[in-house]
Amino acid sequence: YPCFVKPANLGSSVGISKARSQRELVEAIHLALSYDRRVIVEEGIDAREVEIAILGNDRPMASVAGEIIPKREFYDYEANSPDGGAELRIPADLTPEERRTVEDYAIRAFQAIDAAGLARVDFFLERGTGRILVNEINTMPGFTRFSMYPKLWEASGLAYDKLLDRLIELALERHAERNQLLRSYDKA
Ligand SMILES: Nc1ncnc2c1ncn2[C@@H]1O[C@H](COP(=O)(O)OP(=O)(O)O)[C@@H](O)[C@H]1O
Ligand SMILES: [Mg+2]
Repeated sequence: YPCFVKPANLGSSVGISKARSQRELVEAIHLALSYDRRVIVEEGIDAREVEIAILGNDRPMASVAGEIIPKREFYDYEANSPDGGAELRIPADLTPEERRTVEDYAIRAFQAIDAAGLARVDFFLERGTGRILVNEINTMPGFTRFSMYPKLWEASGLAYDKLLDRLIELALERHAERNQLLRSYDKA
């Protein structure tokens, strides 16, 4: 303890609790099970939260990294919403080595799940040990004007309208590739 309990396939911190005792753990599992049939229980990490945006298909590119500074105890549903609860720091204050590691892990995570177009990869930088952990990959990251994903690209020199153009190109490119695949099977 503490540990974090999450529905396996949700987002925006819905159904997530931090449990500090066995009693809280049981309650947290029940709550998470009301959102998903599968639940994740993780060791709580005392960490900075750093995120990076990925854009591309077969040759994905990484944006600058950003940091979330939650004003609440963790980045919960309220903190996730536009009116705040969290401050975004872009670019994140990282050493060149941290920056390289985050970028490398993010691209590898994207390729490991064969993602396409866009994803945001979220990290924990553990205080004290410096350990860098992938928390999650979001294949449909928040995309409002307050959201980290477009802000990270803006800070990397790709304005919102150009980002949209690029996403449309990538989608058309992937669609054309998929259209080359056979969709029926004829026994010879
Ligand atoms: N193992 C963990 N240790 C510490 N904090 C965590 C852990 N897991 C989640 N959190 C906190 O809860 C927030 C939401 O969890 P996350 O796994 O990102 O779920 P979601 O998919 O809903 O965004 C994180 O941004 C972080 O603040
Ligand atoms: Mg998250």
